[in-house]
Amino acid sequence: MIIAVDGPAASGKGTVARALAEHFGLPWLDTGLLYRAVGISVVRADRDPRKPEDALAACDFPEALLDDPELRSEAAGKYASFVSAHPAVREALVDRQRVFANQPGGAVLDGRDIGTVIAPDADAKLFVTASAEARADRRYKDELRSSADADLAAILADIEDRDRRDSERANAPLKRADDADLLDTTNLTISAAVQRAIALVEARTGKR
Ligand code: DC
Repeated sequence: MIIAVDGPAASGKGTVARALAEHFGLPWLDTGLLYRAVGISVVRADRDPRKPEDALAACDFPEALLDDPELRSEAAGKYASFVSAHPAVREALVDRQRVFANQPGGAVLDGRDIGTVIAPDADAKLFVTASAEARADRRYKDELRSSADADLAAILADIEDRDRRDSERANAPLKRADDADLLDTTNLTISAAVQRAIALVEARTGKR
C-alpha cells in the first residue's frame, strides 16, 4: 500500500504523513529532506543553488547528510526550493523515491509531487493544505520556542514566496492530483487532522 501526501510548506503534511506511517505500520520518507540535502550541499561547496549545474553536481550527497539537523532550518528550505526547480535535479532524485515507494509492504511519502509524478498509482493520496496565514502562524509559534525575535510578517512573506516558487515552476509543480483527497487543516488541531487523514485513507483503501 502506497500513501502519497502532498501539500505546501507548513501545511501539516509531515505530521500527517508520520502519523499515517505509524498507524498503518509503514516506513515513511520525507522527500523534502532530499531536496534540502542537495541545497545544503551546494551552499557548503560555495556554489549557487539557483544554478542548475551547481545543483546537479550536489545530487550524489552522502546518505548521512539526511540526519543533519541543519536540514530542518528555514535557510535549508529555501535552498531546497531553488534546487527543486531544476528538472535535472528532480530527475536525479526520482529513482530513490520510487524505490522507497515500491518496497514490499508499501510506504508513506510526503512532498510536492508524490501523487502526481513519483507514485501516480498510489493507493491513497492526500493533498494537505491550510491558509497561508495559518501556516505562517504555526511557523511563528514554532520559532518563538527557540528565539524571542521571530517575525510573523517576514515568515508570512517567506511562505508566500515559497508557495509561488513551488507552484509556478514548469517541472512537477505543487498541484493537487485529480484523485487526491483534500485535507484542509486551517481550523483543525493536529489530532483532528490526523484522525481525518486516517479516515480518508481507510475509506480509499479499505485497510485499517
Ligand atoms: O517539504 P519541505 O519544506 O521540506 O520542502 C522543501 C522544498 O523542497 C520545497 O520548497 C519544494 C521542494 N520539494 C519538492 O520540490 N518536491 C518534493 N517532493 C519535496 C520538496
